[in-house]
Amino acid sequence: MTMRIAPLIAPSILSADFMKLSEELVFLKSAGADVVHVDVMDGRFTPNITIGLPVVEALRHETSLTLDCHLMIVEPLKYAVDFVKAGADWVSIHQEADHNLHRTIVTIKNTGAKAGVALNPSTPVEALTDILDDLDFVLIMSVNPGFSGQVFIERALDKVRRLDSLRRQREAHFFIQVDGGIDTANAQSLVEAGADCLVAGNAVFKSPNPTGAIRDIKAAMAEGRK
Ligand code: DX5
Ligand code: ZN
Repeated sequence: MTMRIAPLIAPSILSADFMKLSEELVFLKSAGADVVHVDVMDGRFTPNITIGLPVVEALRHETSLTLDCHLMIVEPLKYAVDFVKAGADWVSIHQEADHNLHRTIVTIKNTGAKAGVALNPSTPVEALTDILDDLDFVLIMSVNPGFSGQVFIERALDKVRRLDSLRRQREAHFFIQVDGGIDTANAQSLVEAGADCLVAGNAVFKSPNPTGAIRDIKAAMAEGRK
């Protein structure tokens, strides 16, 4: 039988106040965040440039929370191990960015970090059929990579269901993460569909009550597991 982890919330630091990152980390810890999601973009895979290795190193010095580095970069094998050295506990790479996914995944896993593959909205979950058993997690993008604050693409729900059903068929243990446009309105149905870890950027950091936002999203996730 497939074992599932307790549902986790992973606020995306991309939506935080970059002038106050250490305070934001203290807030995340005290508000009950489980994981810190770090959106790394290179301006080539994505139409935006964001955070790189030095920032991950700085975050690592300031927090004991799990650091989840989402690499939206071309040629991820070149940098994946450097992100683990900088402090990443989880590293995800994009299926669309890597012609040798298996090699990169094995390389990440050999460091002891958890390795995941992310899928853009237009990439079917079936593209991972032959690598699923090697993965610690799969990240279903519910927006096109590039920016926080985009609208949730509903189709992602069906992808999560299909991936969950593949997971059951194979009795696999990877967890399912979903990223983009997530808030209290869709968190419950995503967990019902099979999601285990939800990333939330604007829904947390741009909320008038960020602590309440984390609490409400976690409550919605818990409902989804009932
Ligand atoms: C999109 C990033 C997401 C995004 C999440 O390219 O991978 O992690 O910043 O932000 P929201 O929750 O605001 O869509
Ligand atoms: Zn992300």
